[in-house]
Amino acid sequence: MSKEELIKKILELKERRKAIILAHNYQPPEIQDLADLRGDSLELSLKASKTDAEVIVFCGVFFMAETAKIVSPQKKVLIPVAGACCDMANMLSPEEVMRLRDEYPGVPVITYVNSTAEVKALSDVCCTSANAVKVAGNFSDKRLIMLPDMNLARYVQRFYPDKEIIYFKGFCPFHHLLTPEDVLRAKAEHPQAVFIAHPECRPEVIDLADYVASTSGMLRLAKELPHEEFIIGTEIGLLYPLSQVAPNKKFYHPAPEKMLCPSMKKIRLEDVLNALERDEFEVIVPEEIRIKAYQAVKRMLEIV
Ligand code: 13P
Ligand code: SF4
Repeated sequence: MSKEELIKKILELKERRKAIILAHNYQPPEIQDLADLRGDSLELSLKASKTDAEVIVFCGVFFMAETAKIVSPQKKVLIPVAGACCDMANMLSPEEVMRLRDEYPGVPVITYVNSTAEVKALSDVCCTSANAVKVAGNFSDKRLIMLPDMNLARYVQRFYPDKEIIYFKGFCPFHHLLTPEDVLRAKAEHPQAVFIAHPECRPEVIDLADYVASTSGMLRLAKELPHEEFIIGTEIGLLYPLSQVAPNKKFYHPAPEKMLCPSMKKIRLEDVLNALERDEFEVIVPEEIRIKAYQAVKRMLEIV
């Protein structure tokens, strides 16, 4: 089947099934072009909670589709490739959260959405890279636990010197690989460029950033700032939407070979068609876990 035929079939089936296609900003270009809505983790959770579609086809990684199911239990949520998982989310087990809760009784637990439903269910509130600082600021407690990304936790710590942010040593294997040397090399090659880093980058990289933002925050900055050139410190897939929102600007990546998340590249058009034809793969969250995880996600959505 040609690409055009494939897209035509997907669109027909999508209409018939009252489905909506959501895609994360790192997805392959043809998936982003196909999607009804694309965005960062926060935007996608908000969109999933508001859509009146009957089926959500989630093109992203598993925790994102799971979050859609957590907020929309009455809808069918499909992820076209079952094995598209976030390596950071897989680093933190529910047992480890319980251990931290025992070690620090009464300390609120703020969990990045890049986590499993079981881990969310054991948390007080969720956050995304776009709202982590705001969510942490909502607590008057002197100590907070932030899971599972140590880099995001250390970034948030900068805003609250009077608080102690306790963290688990999880990280994104791709953002964590970006080094200050990579950034300094790119800055030397492009001295006019503004450097924007994702908060999943290590602190030494954040120190070099002109701006720190979520993926959609980066898209907004690229469009709104008067600058012509940008060095982009996040997963390589963001270069495609950047080139669309600001086609006359220049975007450079400091380490393209290191910052490629294979799970974000697994979904192809054929998989989206298969998802709509066969209901593959349906995301199921046991109700007792979903209810607790929903409280944590809902609390986040009330803060932002
Ligand atoms: P955003 O919420 O900024 O899109 O980030 C999600 C993610 O997985 C970053 O690696
Ligand atoms: Fe997870 Fe990193 Fe991939 Fe984002 S880029 S989905 S944090 S592994």
